[in-house]
Amino acid sequence: MKRMVLPRFGVDAFTIEEVPIPRPGPREVLVRVRANSINFRDLRVAQGLYDPRMPLPRVPLSDGSGEVAETGSDVTRFRSGDRVAAIFMQTWVAGLPAERYSASALGGAIDGMLSEYVVLPEDGLVLIPEHLSFEEAATLPCAAVTAWNALFYESRIKPGDTVLVQGTGGVSLFALQLAQMAGARVIATSSSDAKLERVRELGAAETINYKTTPDWSRGVKQLTGGKGIDHIVEVGGAGTFTQSLRAVRVGGHINVIGVLSGVSAEIPTALMLQKSIQVHGIYVGSRDMFEEMNRAIGRHHLKPVIDRVFPMQEIGKALEYMETGRHFGKIVIRQEA
Ligand SMILES: NC(=O)c1ccc[n+]([C@@H]2O[C@H](COP(=O)([O-])OP(=O)(O)OC[C@H]3O[C@@H](n4cnc5c(N)ncnc54)[C@H](OP(=O)(O)O)[C@@H]3O)[C@@H](O)[C@H]2O)c1
Repeated sequence: MKRMVLPRFGVDAFTIEEVPIPRPGPREVLVRVRANSINFRDLRVAQGLYDPRMPLPRVPLSDGSGEVAETGSDVTRFRSGDRVAAIFMQTWVAGLPAERYSASALGGAIDGMLSEYVVLPEDGLVLIPEHLSFEEAATLPCAAVTAWNALFYESRIKPGDTVLVQGTGGVSLFALQLAQMAGARVIATSSSDAKLERVRELGAAETINYKTTPDWSRGVKQLTGGKGIDHIVEVGGAGTFTQSLRAVRVGGHINVIGVLSGVSAEIPTALMLQKSIQVHGIYVGSRDMFEEMNRAIGRHHLKPVIDRVFPMQEIGKALEYMETGRHFGKIVIRQEA
């Protein structure tokens, strides 16, 4: 079978390896991977910016979906032919986050999903929603579960709440779709008026161009009658956090998820206490969250937004495309049948 490896850092460094198909142990499952999706983290992994000390070679990507090809003798959760996706941290099944789970993060701490076949513990997989193709389901494990955790576990949004999503990447569009599904009113930002048009088509109630309106927190305050926004899906990081602090309402929630505009900044911390806000650090989510989200996605027939699909051997091109920021939603890798 073929798998892609990163032998050294660099988006141009990926090479295809030919290796034997692995066999599952008693409580393991062999999955024929059909599709993958990429996340901003995968770009940083390839660039050596995620963890410069990551042991190489490494099979990249956390996200993959496919079908069960073989089950170990003691497997009870799956049967051959089941359509599945891997969970981001293979050992975070339920409950609160714990430090030990990050040692099982696919495509980071351990080998990932850009492989024709993978063997994973049965606890590290979920069934995918029936109405989704493998390409669509491959978008869920990182971006969608992160948005789900932020909105429904940490922020606990309610119908009628207001939610701000930043930009039109994978996490933000899932947050937009999932928040709407829950009856929230979504305000979206983007650097592009053309993309803002598209998020309005997806259902965003209001939009702000953060390039032409760098002080966008004022616009958010106006759009919320001076009150501020209930929940922020904060993917910008250093360059957006202060604006988020200004935009959030008293008693509101900021979900710290991303680092798109940098990892550290000077923060007006007094605003946090004056506004009595809650700041939640989010690191993807558990298998329980993934399964719960899949039930909701299935019920509401939610369709992930896919921007472009690349073949497996073009993983480097797919990551370079992500770096341009031209995409809207998710970038997917299709594996040959
Ligand atoms: N904590 C976690 O568990 C977790 C999980 C998933 C992702 N993340 C992080 O979340 C972030 C987003 O990930 P992703 O996979 O969704 O990335 P992505 O798909 O590559 O999103 C990129 C988009 O974000 C928008 N953006 C860039 N800079 C921005 C800024 N300064 N302000 C507002 N929007 C900005 C742009 O949208 P426009 O073109 O519309 O402007 C850009 O196209 C990354 O930092 C990633 O590492 C964290």
